[in-house]
Amino acid sequence: MRHQTRPAPRRSDADKAPTIRAIDVFCGIGGLTYGLRSAGLDVVLGLDSDISCRYAYETNNDGAAFLKADVRDVHFSDLESHFGESQITALVGCAPCQPFSSHTRRNTAPRDDCELVDEFARLVGEGTPDLVSMENVPGLAKHPTFGKLVELLRDLNYDVAHGVIDFHKFGVPQHRRRLVMVASRLGSAALPEPTNCIGNVADFIADIQPINAGQTWKEDPAHTTLALTPINLERIRQSKPGGTWQDWDEALVNPCQKRAHYPAPYGRMRWDEPAPTITTQFCYYSTGRFGHPNQDRALSVREAALLQTFPRDYKLVDPDSPLTIRKLARHVGNAVPVKIAELIGSSLMGATASV
Ligand SMILES: C[S@@+](CC[C@H](N)C(=O)[O-])C[C@H]1O[C@@H](n2cnc3c(N)ncnc32)[C@H](O)[C@@H]1O
Repeated sequence: MRHQTRPAPRRSDADKAPTIRAIDVFCGIGGLTYGLRSAGLDVVLGLDSDISCRYAYETNNDGAAFLKADVRDVHFSDLESHFGESQITALVGCAPCQPFSSHTRRNTAPRDDCELVDEFARLVGEGTPDLVSMENVPGLAKHPTFGKLVELLRDLNYDVAHGVIDFHKFGVPQHRRRLVMVASRLGSAALPEPTNCIGNVADFIADIQPINAGQTWKEDPAHTTLALTPINLERIRQSKPGGTWQDWDEALVNPCQKRAHYPAPYGRMRWDEPAPTITTQFCYYSTGRFGHPNQDRALSVREAALLQTFPRDYKLVDPDSPLTIRKLARHVGNAVPVKIAELIGSSLMGATASV
């Protein structure tokens, strides 16, 4: 592994804040990129192996190019020309988190696949960018792979801050706990401070056009929902906000629900509380508390994107090549909430203090 060290950049004569140029590895549809750009970073490139992310990534992040590539085939030297000359460089990334997620652990045999986090660490070691950041599921915090990444960063003289934070305390209207890490070799690294600007479901989606299950609103192709089977339609009609299947008529209850005594699936959200974690499954009424608070359907893609704090006009559907709702749900559920990304961006800006 090549450990190269470049001299730290200096402020210009006018003492302007130096530009931070960033590359977003595992960029998806650009939640992280968009938030970092809102905070003032210049994200020049997003890399992802899934070409279906390109439309949303590039359309909403003017000037940031999308590179379709498998990170395992990429070296830092392939990317560094995008940074240009004399800029502060940042490598940010959010490796796919399902291998560590508690949702996955409950439902399938445990997997222990840290390969893509290791690949991110390899890129950091090859290029020693000035700033590094990552976001991932809380389970990674105790995993040896994360320990190795932090050790590598400290060996390379980065100041490293990391911790598991509850996004609800940072203005995201969801219960979503995630591991966040910020590292700098230019100054002290610090995690974002809670904003205590608490948001609930109503604050973000109450004024969205009502639609039925299986419908798409003609003015916004992302305001689209899956159809429900007749039995699920009846179930959601009998579901109370914040309630469970125990609110239903006996005839609607599946015997395995009683055995498992697991109230979460087939739930309806409450207006006055944060949403559950918006996963890639939010488009299904049966997989969580993803029922709309007072319409008989699961969340639409647009509503989930708003709960992920994307701006209302974030373009998600390519008119020339529309994706399925399931695919769009994967994009949105996988994203880093924009508000968190913005706070991570401010932390990265603050971590250049000695420049
Ligand atoms: C958690 S999502 C990232 C979300 C993104 N940061 C955002 O805020 O919208 C992880 C991404 O990693 C991508 N990915 C998975 N395996 C990959 C690989 N081997 N190389 C590059 N990207 C990969 C997936 O396509 C997915 O978009």
